Amino acid sequence: MSKSISGFSKLSKAKKIDWIVTTYFSDSEEARKIIEQYWNTDAKVQKLHDEFIENTITNYYLPLGVAPNFLINDKLYTIPMAIEESSVVAAASKAAKFWLNRGGFKTKVYSTIKIGQVHFMFHGDFNKLRTFFNNIKPQLLKETASITKNMEARGGGILDIELRDKTSDIKGYYQLHVSFETLDAMGANFINSCLEQLAKTLQTEALNFELFSETERRIDVVMSILSNYVPECLVRAEVSCAVEDLTENDAISGEAFARKFVQAVAIAEVEPYRAVTHNKGIMNGIDAVVLATGNDFRAVEAGVHAYASRTGRYRSLTHAKLEDGRFYFWIEIPLALGTVGGLTQLHPLVKLALELLHHPTARDLMQIVAVAGLAQNFAALRSLTTTGIQKGHMKMHLMNILNQFGANEDEKQALTEYFKSHTVSHNAVSDALHILRSKT
Ligand code: MEV
Repeated sequence: MSKSISGFSKLSKAKKIDWIVTTYFSDSEEARKIIEQYWNTDAKVQKLHDEFIENTITNYYLPLGVAPNFLINDKLYTIPMAIEESSVVAAASKAAKFWLNRGGFKTKVYSTIKIGQVHFMFHGDFNKLRTFFNNIKPQLLKETASITKNMEARGGGILDIELRDKTSDIKGYYQLHVSFETLDAMGANFINSCLEQLAKTLQTEALNFELFSETERRIDVVMSILSNYVPECLVRAEVSCAVEDLTENDAISGEAFARKFVQAVAIAEVEPYRAVTHNKGIMNGIDAVVLATGNDFRAVEAGVHAYASRTGRYRSLTHAKLEDGRFYFWIEIPLALGTVGGLTQLHPLVKLALELLHHPTARDLMQIVAVAGLAQNFAALRSLTTTGIQKGHMKMHLMNILNQFGANEDEKQALTEYFKSHTVSHNAVSDALHILRSKT
């Protein structure tokens, strides 16, 4: 039976681990060994990780892979990807190579506007609230000046503040709907600090606004927070080529492949069951780069899926068409990313990933991430509409299965060779390993 504990966060790391291993594990020394096995041998690096979050007991590793040969706006990139799924990096690399010989990826950022809101309740005359808001707008900006000063010096800051009437949704509900430019910072802390100051000013000024009645003076702020829905922080990535160049082998003509590919995308545009899986494949590429570059993948996921549903139906994030003998495939996706602040200056691997990407600005990174998503989707659809996904997937998964069976290096080598010409499945690997072992 596990038990509750108070003051856990105040215990030393050693004491926390003592409590965990003795409370939850039948073999507490084995559990301790696993926890300690993942500590960094450099005490400074470990301390850094310990301090990222509360109650760190160890580190959780994911592989960091790289996908080379990405030609983006005529510049070559090797893209870092942190992900556990066997086939993702291989698929990205394959797609990069395919498009390297066909002009590469073209990208553009439409805008980088981010949104934050002060949600508040006001019970009274909307016309008076509007007059009040127009009167205090300069004051709202003035009182955030100490927070926005540095950002403004670099060309960013608060772009606009709007008063929004939301009373048709909830009685008495209004918003300050604020747009921001945060340049190379993801900007969550900056935006939230601005919003909390705006909320304070709003409430204080209301107390002194002479047109308000006693009730109207009491503006009730419910919360002040940035939005992870960033439909205006939008980037596009595209590939295109002549239809006849769309194939590398004789198994399927460029024309036939292009038609099937466009059909597959069309299905994901109208069929939510397919669209979710289609977009999940895109997120395989996106999340992996977002994570490797120290960005908040939960924020990106939330924003992207909301964007995919913006018409009222969940749809594909990518689009494809055939026009005048050319194949076009593109993605438009909202991505609020940062390349300064947060983990970017702290995590040694994040710093390394950003250097590998030639120290990108946030706008550069948006384009690289969008390309990773498009490439991943291209690779998935290419397999799905030709050989089927399992062939490549299981090939990549083979090493995981061999590791599950405790195969040694010689066995791995022999069976990797064997499965070049045989279909991989859990049973097939088990049988082949059994036969191999019985021979030795
Ligand atoms: C698997 O992680 C992703 C795919 O299912 C994506 C897709 O179906 O498009 C292969």
